[in-house]
Amino acid sequence: MIVSNPNGVNSRARGSAAETYQFEADLSLKRLRDVLDATWQRLDVEPDVVHEFEVRLDQHWRPLFRLLMHLYGSRYDFFYHLQQIVITAAEAWAARSPILRAQDYHRINEPDWFTSQKVVGGALYVDLFSENLGKLRQHIGYFKELGLTYLHLMPLFAVRPGDNDGGYAISNYRSVDPRLGTVEDLRLLADELREAGIVLVLDFVFNHTSEDHEWALQAQAGDVEYQNFYYIFPDREIPDQYERTLREIFPTVRRGNFTWHDGMQQWVWTTFNNFQWDLNYSNPAVFRAMLEELFFIANTGVDILRLDAVAFIWKQMGTGCENLPEAHMLIQAFNRLCSIATPGLLFKSEAIVHPDDVVKYIGERECQISYNPTLMALLWESLATRRVSLLAQSLSHRHQLPPRTAWVNYLRCHDDIGWTFDDADAAAVGINGYDHRNFLNRFYTGQFEGSFARGVPFQENVQTGDMRISGTMASLAGLEQAIEEDSEELKELAIRRMLLLQGITLSIGGIPLLYLGEEWGMLNDYDFVKDPAKAGDTRWIHRPKMQWHYLDELDDHIASDSQSIRSRIFLSLQRLIALRESLPALAGQQMQLVDLGNSHVLCFVRMHEAHRLIVIANFCESPQTIAGNLLRTTGLGRFFEDAISGETISTSEPFELDSYQIMWLERC
Ligand code: GLC
Ligand code: GLC
Repeated sequence: MIVSNPNGVNSRARGSAAETYQFEADLSLKRLRDVLDATWQRLDVEPDVVHEFEVRLDQHWRPLFRLLMHLYGSRYDFFYHLQQIVITAAEAWAARSPILRAQDYHRINEPDWFTSQKVVGGALYVDLFSENLGKLRQHIGYFKELGLTYLHLMPLFAVRPGDNDGGYAISNYRSVDPRLGTVEDLRLLADELREAGIVLVLDFVFNHTSEDHEWALQAQAGDVEYQNFYYIFPDREIPDQYERTLREIFPTVRRGNFTWHDGMQQWVWTTFNNFQWDLNYSNPAVFRAMLEELFFIANTGVDILRLDAVAFIWKQMGTGCENLPEAHMLIQAFNRLCSIATPGLLFKSEAIVHPDDVVKYIGERECQISYNPTLMALLWESLATRRVSLLAQSLSHRHQLPPRTAWVNYLRCHDDIGWTFDDADAAAVGINGYDHRNFLNRFYTGQFEGSFARGVPFQENVQTGDMRISGTMASLAGLEQAIEEDSEELKELAIRRMLLLQGITLSIGGIPLLYLGEEWGMLNDYDFVKDPAKAGDTRWIHRPKMQWHYLDELDDHIASDSQSIRSRIFLSLQRLIALRESLPALAGQQMQLVDLGNSHVLCFVRMHEAHRLIVIANFCESPQTIAGNLLRTTGLGRFFEDAISGETISTSEPFELDSYQIMWLERC
């Protein structure tokens, strides 16, 4: 059975399932034409603008239809929702500014723009960094000076009063938290960032809304249509059945995943805090409503949406309700709709789960980029153990990604560190995963003898023994201890550890992402407990307020040629970033591990087109000797220059890596 042209619905639908889908997809689109035409007329859209949309609609329609059909095809009102979804997409494209449309055009023609080595990211909380969006605009020069070309602003939309989970309890996706500014300020910032060559990243917090979002308020008022936006149950019967197979994400907030709501006298599904109500995506009205919010955010001038808590967006009784196939389909459907209506937009996945599951969200047709939580955790693991065996084992089969996708490599973010490595990877190098996590937790909370780290526990689960770690990069890497003990030697080691880790995330392949404050080695902020809205959540310890006086010190030190610790950290990192951006071998993702036969030293080759760079990193405080001959065969050269130190290495003899030294070696 042949369905020859996408809109030709003459052919009969018999034959394979795929052909049936095609027939049904094409017929549905044909039936939607009138309402689509009416939409263009209503919005008075230019014919060439309409044409661009319709070309993309044709291109993406069949796969989109198939996804929506799978998710919602059995609903009595499926066609109604399908129609609403198409109108929503058309409205979004019509509302998109000419500048964004022009950018869409470029990105369609250069779909892997984000894999360039020139992309380097930073993340920050607007209030903690610069008070508000208006003042943030004055710091664009700072981002440029540091070398950032990607800026992730932590959630800045209107939130509930009091504790709002760092902005992740959103009460209105269309208005900015008044303390930070207005949507107009956001648009202005996006424009100025674009002019400065910096892409803007915002969160799409789509697993849940705040309990005071309009939909939740309607639900509380007894409106069944809105109660169906959430998971609401009259008694414990169904929650208890679900609970049998669910994990607890915030066990210190509340046991289990459901919260009793006094007003409604019902139970509400709340995976995270009690005030964060999980949205019910089995209801197509929720999908369509959130699509509208997505497009609104995208059209303010956002380049990348960070999809928050992707693992949890689909629930099914009898499963862990994480990483279900429908969660992927939902994101793929959003992806297709963005390819139609906001085609320059990328998705970044926030899946802090088992590495086998993390990777499943990554793809050109799902999330083009993703946090790399496994690398993050294993870099800290290597720092604690001084051994790279588990890191190398994991990298050996987990680093490679499909084309037109990229890892986002980071050391710290606004969240805790969870030891999400794979137990089989650990077993392969003789490590027991459970014991090792206990060790890492003791190490990073400073309880292990000889530990340099000053982290604190997050969400310790007394029942399972599970625990995660909070703390800033500098405090975890030993700077807090070194300053407390006023030891120059320890300070030196701590700084080297930080640069070692940064040197890896900047070179291993993918987009490096700093959590701002790292560039100054900012320490834990123990004062968060003074704020009752923050006191119950230790993640605030690593969300310190930016100390702008460091920048003045930097100027003084540059003028006087003497460096403080802060200036040294800043200048070294700034230099590493500039170096990365100048090295074309660091574009893309291609990376090959090299076994130097030394358990303290990680070595890999980066290649992009004809360019190569060898990275060697010593994860131990004692110097290591490396046989030059291994480099000769790996890098196909006799002499190499370390781009970081400027030192030249001859492969005819052994050479030494200093304590925690990292080299970026180029043939010379
Ligand atoms: C994500 C965020 C985290 C938040 C959670 C609930 O994991 O990164 O900060 O607590 O989602 O929104
Ligand atoms: C995330 C993760 C969890 C993380 C938390 C935020 O979605 O699944 O491990 O720690 O939410 O803290």
